[in-house]
Amino acid sequence: KEDDSSTGSSSTGGTKTITLGFSQVGSESGWRSANTTSVKDAAKEAGYNLKFSDAQQKQENQISAIRNYIAQKVDVIAFSPVVVTGWDAVLKEAKAAKIPVVLTDRSVETSDDSLYVTLVGSDFTDEGRRAAKILEKVLTKAGHKGAVKIAQLEGTTGAAPAIERAKGFKEIMDAEHKADWKIVVSQTGDFTRAGGKQVMAAFLQSNPDVNVLFAHNDDMAIGAIQAIEAAGKKPGTDILIVSIDGVKDGFVAMSEGKINAIVECNPLLGPQLMDVVKKVKDGETVERWIKTEESDFMQDQAKAALPSRKY
Ligand code: AHR
Repeated sequence: KEDDSSTGSSSTGGTKTITLGFSQVGSESGWRSANTTSVKDAAKEAGYNLKFSDAQQKQENQISAIRNYIAQKVDVIAFSPVVVTGWDAVLKEAKAAKIPVVLTDRSVETSDDSLYVTLVGSDFTDEGRRAAKILEKVLTKAGHKGAVKIAQLEGTTGAAPAIERAKGFKEIMDAEHKADWKIVVSQTGDFTRAGGKQVMAAFLQSNPDVNVLFAHNDDMAIGAIQAIEAAGKKPGTDILIVSIDGVKDGFVAMSEGKINAIVECNPLLGPQLMDVVKKVKDGETVERWIKTEESDFMQDQAKAALPSRKY
């Protein structure tokens, strides 16, 4: 799926309009919709000629979108890679065509660091650590005693946020809670509500004694809430829930007592991305990783924070 906010390669005030080719992961979650809007709005605001395509969560679609941008000789390519591996060949083609590549939101694993200039996005490992730390508070607040039996709803298999959030969470769990916390079941819900609902329903069948859910995003937590309620249990009470993102619907669920805490992952990366694209186009040096600032929220903060949530 491709759309083009192209106004032609016009010139404003003697400077050539920057043409940016952007390949988005898909539209799997509320976070992603907010990210897409942010990128489109910021490109418009900056006066760029944005060529946008939605890969519908398929790596082959992203690779062909990037190849298209190379053929069109765009000034800069930006993309949010659906998975971490398998990019070297197409990134080498971009390099050979002398088109700089900026990663946004998600990272890649590559043997050659020169294949992209920078990453604008969150520290997902730290988000996983923060989720474990906030779970400590949630358990204390709930007066939880005894074994902590955790179900983990993972993001898309092979995607940076799924790998790194699981890693960060496990790091804290192994270091500080080896005796009493255990991930008893863990599976991907592909970052979608439908996936979260389906996988949680199966978890409740196979592991009815689960008392905590760690969901790698709010959408899967919201899907899981439906499955928990359908199984006759109370989300936020019978099963304590920590998720990541902080989208409006997540905050609504939290203010209703159904999610206990949320670790924020900010999708509003558009303005920072446009800024970096300009610098890269002008040949300026930029930091290798431009990190996003984020907060954590407990349930008792949800009602007050809800009206000011921007996504
Ligand atoms: O890469 C960011 C993640 O992707 C968000 O947490 C999730 O909601 C999205 O689909």
